[in-house]
Amino acid sequence: MGQLQDEIKRRRTFAIISHPDAGKTTLTEKLLLYGGAIHLAGSIKSRKTQRHAVSDWMEIEKQRGISVTSSVLQFDYAGCRINILDTPGHQDFSEDTYRTLMAVDSAVMVIDAAKGIETQTKKLFKVCKQRNIPIFTFVNKLDRYGKAPLDLMDEIENVLGIKAYPMNWPIGIDGRYQGVYNRRKKQIELFSADDSHGQKERESVIFAAQDEMVKNKISEHEYNTLLEDIALLDEAGESWDDDKVAKGELTPMFFGSAMTNFGVKNFLEEYLRLAPPPQPHISDSGIISPEDDKFSAFVFKIQANMNPAHHDRLAFIRICSGKFERNMQVMHVQENKQIKLSQPQQFLAQDRQIIDNAYPGDIVGLFDPGIFGIGDTICDSNKKFRFADFPVFPPERFARVEAKDTMKRKQFIKGINQLTQEGAVQLFEQPGTGMESYIVGTVGQLQFDVLKYRLEKEYNVDIVITMQPFEVARWLEFKNGLEVKPESLNGADRGMFVKDMKGRPVLLVNNEWALGWIMDNNPELILHNVPPDKKEA
Ligand code: G4P
Repeated sequence: MGQLQDEIKRRRTFAIISHPDAGKTTLTEKLLLYGGAIHLAGSIKSRKTQRHAVSDWMEIEKQRGISVTSSVLQFDYAGCRINILDTPGHQDFSEDTYRTLMAVDSAVMVIDAAKGIETQTKKLFKVCKQRNIPIFTFVNKLDRYGKAPLDLMDEIENVLGIKAYPMNWPIGIDGRYQGVYNRRKKQIELFSADDSHGQKERESVIFAAQDEMVKNKISEHEYNTLLEDIALLDEAGESWDDDKVAKGELTPMFFGSAMTNFGVKNFLEEYLRLAPPPQPHISDSGIISPEDDKFSAFVFKIQANMNPAHHDRLAFIRICSGKFERNMQVMHVQENKQIKLSQPQQFLAQDRQIIDNAYPGDIVGLFDPGIFGIGDTICDSNKKFRFADFPVFPPERFARVEAKDTMKRKQFIKGINQLTQEGAVQLFEQPGTGMESYIVGTVGQLQFDVLKYRLEKEYNVDIVITMQPFEVARWLEFKNGLEVKPESLNGADRGMFVKDMKGRPVLLVNNEWALGWIMDNNPELILHNVPPDKKEA
């Protein structure tokens, strides 16, 4: 096998998804600990940052270098090259999360054993399901009292509509579990007491399931309960099915505790064994296999002002095929231009470094002089194609945004346009109002706070946000192809007539009822929830 194939085979690119507080940061940290990428767990400083409120988000901003490097992590373990992509926990960031999930081959869903499936888990799970990627479940916090393992399995099945296949099973009493049973290896792993508070790898002793010695370590009752549970799973549980796992219809389920390192190594090893290597991607000239030796990648995230002193922007690309080489010339398809990929960066645990090579599945950060957009394709100049567009979310909240100080108009326009390119918000213009103000559309409220904060910090512009009473945006077309203008539209004054940044007409209305009226009174009108050249998420 060639070098390219070898490199592809050993790569695992995934995201960890969870409801805030379920333990995503802790688990990430522990994977790094086991991967030898950090020596003492507890050094990812961004923990607790991506929590509930804007103030927390701002905390991240203060530590930007750190939070950003921890948003893509790469390390090696047992011959595998692992790329972990961080997903923000905020529900208001769903669009950002969505894009990140476009760049992974599988996802790990962390569930708090006491809480079960929570709202944010449900939403993120839905996105993974749409993409048909394999989902692995890690039930966390087993060191505390929680729901019974069988009830958690039922919950996954009933709430998420996916079957679960336990890979391991907790041994002992709820809240005082002592180990896990590995169903594949038919082995019992008992953890020794540990006073490092989770900062070191947890030691354990392994027994064959039938080993009499186990009975010296756990009570007769615990042992018998384990045997009964295993028999029940074997007889009544789901059977293993590679195909269903690959399609995200069956989730391999693990029990453990990230904080106390209980079951983490077992999880990591089984996960790496089962998780898929880089998968093919759909393009407008067919399926692009990672083994295709012509380089290709897409941009899934743009982050401006990572270094506030320099206003630099990074475009994060996911490599889909071929080998990446520093300074290579490639085609930026959307701009139809040749570009040179200089200063590519990769993220190794806490550090950023310039890299020379990368392979399919890897994430590389490119300096972006403002040319890239989310979803853009870059590829070998001899084989030009586009990857399928990223689906977009219809905006649901709208506000008029203007600079407090009109002298700052130039920075305001620059800032708001750059943040739009990053995909932070959607921008509209109300014809006739010039560029004094914009109408900004978002999916969630927090995006406005973040917009205000970032314009202030990164562009030195204070803005005034005036919320508008609209909840629905529709891109408009006439069936006969004529241009839609306010005067040719019955009831344009029932909402606000605006244009998106490509000059396409959009009507913002208060509710579905107003929309119904517009539809009834304009039989020639076609309405789109998202721009007509995009797919809705
Ligand atoms: P998140 O990224 O999903 O939001 O969760 P995070 O890892 O930050 O964990 C949230 C809280 O849950 C933290 O407690 C963390 O220590 C705790 N935690 C994570 N894994 C486990 C586990 O296996 N068992 C137990 N008992 N707790 C766990 P905190 O008090 O908010 O922070 P800290 O003071 O511990 O840092």
